[in-house]
Amino acid sequence: MSEWQKQNWRTKPRVQMPDYTDAAALAAVESQLSNYPPLVFAGEARTLKQQLGAAARGEAFLLQGGDCAESFEQFSADGIRDTFKVMLQMAMVLTYGAKVPVVKVGRMAGQFAKPRSAPTEVVDGVELPSYRGDIINELAFTPEARIPDPKKMLQAYTQAAATLNLLRAFSTGGFADMKRVHSWTLGFTDDQEVQKYSEIANRIQDSIDFMAAAGINSDTMHEFSTVEFYTSHESLLLEYEEALTRLDSTSGNWLAGSGHMIWIGDRTRQPDGAHVEFCSGVLNPIGLKCGPTTTAEDLKVLMAKLNPENEEGRLTLIARFGAGNVGEHLPRLIKAVKEEGANVTWVCDPMHGNTIKSSTGYKTRPFDSVLREVRDFFGVHSAEGTIPGGVHFEMTGQDVTECTGGVRAVTDEDLSDRYHTACDPRLNASQSLELAFLVAEELSKLRLDREARAAG
Ligand code: PEP
Ligand code: CO
Repeated sequence: MSEWQKQNWRTKPRVQMPDYTDAAALAAVESQLSNYPPLVFAGEARTLKQQLGAAARGEAFLLQGGDCAESFEQFSADGIRDTFKVMLQMAMVLTYGAKVPVVKVGRMAGQFAKPRSAPTEVVDGVELPSYRGDIINELAFTPEARIPDPKKMLQAYTQAAATLNLLRAFSTGGFADMKRVHSWTLGFTDDQEVQKYSEIANRIQDSIDFMAAAGINSDTMHEFSTVEFYTSHESLLLEYEEALTRLDSTSGNWLAGSGHMIWIGDRTRQPDGAHVEFCSGVLNPIGLKCGPTTTAEDLKVLMAKLNPENEEGRLTLIARFGAGNVGEHLPRLIKAVKEEGANVTWVCDPMHGNTIKSSTGYKTRPFDSVLREVRDFFGVHSAEGTIPGGVHFEMTGQDVTECTGGVRAVTDEDLSDRYHTACDPRLNASQSLELAFLVAEELSKLRLDREARAAG
């Protein structure tokens, strides 16, 4: 048993966390949360870890996606259902291309706290603390709204529990049955994407019919009628994380009970900081964002701290360099990983390095930059002989106009039509599906190369 304790992070330097002014109110919330049930269970986190280990070996592929920031105000069953549907569609497309299982992980049921590039925000000469996500304060630009309120953690917990409950029902209650592969299409998806998806769905339907004739169907094979769907979020608000941490009696290890997978953001990955300290001691699979400022030295220290046993699937490196920067940064970090002989799962986040301000004043991401970063990620791995293990997207099943481009060509002028994100711009359903087709193409190229090499 290690020396690690769930409150040890408190002795380390912390960044990006609120200063709660009412210590008694904070303590009351923490104590209440500590008595609530965990949202996830240790066995689930361990299974996900094994699946991420398979992704590191090229025997599975991770699809991680969801909102930049979940919102209290926009919380609805339809919102959850639609993101779930798009992820099922994307997973089908990817499975079809890669011929390996797709590990589905939502940025859902806990993705409430946001790191910010500046501690304050100025509008028309008025300066207020930045919005830090609904679990901390409110988006409205008033002094009261921006005061961090610990009670928001209780609302976040409740919303996370309700979200997870619905996701579990969708996953096992018939909704995700492969026989329904056609029904996941959303009304507003682009025709061209729907067409391409329908072709795959038809072929899947054909195989299902064939297997049913041979006596294998979703009544006999539960793999056909259910999916495994996991949750994840940035482990940013450590009071919340600590309060939901539980001892797993089977293994004697600690579980972050707030979600299956948690990650450390690009702004909170200081090797001696509070966030790394907290994540180092829980048994969950851990993600680590790697950006242009991640040094090889830091990465080596972080890998040793976060995965001292060099366990497969424990550590996922989420690369987010920006289109045009992948060639400069990914090879040097791959080299650091090789030098350490470290087991990691490489995942591409083509969102966070590609945020720009549109000519109309909105924070946006050009779809072409997103595509380019994904292609470059695959290109570098192919050149280095390493394995691209997955993708990480900010996306929604809603028909939003937040990222420009895509087959339906959202323009700078269109952004104001349906710009609903509380934080970063998300891909809409149509753009998400388009991206899945591109990733599937890259994966099937890889698979064919591998088969050709194996055949000599
Ligand atoms: C995020 O994933 O929403 C995020 C803030 O990412 P990063 O830490 O990579 O900037
Ligand atoms: Co974001």
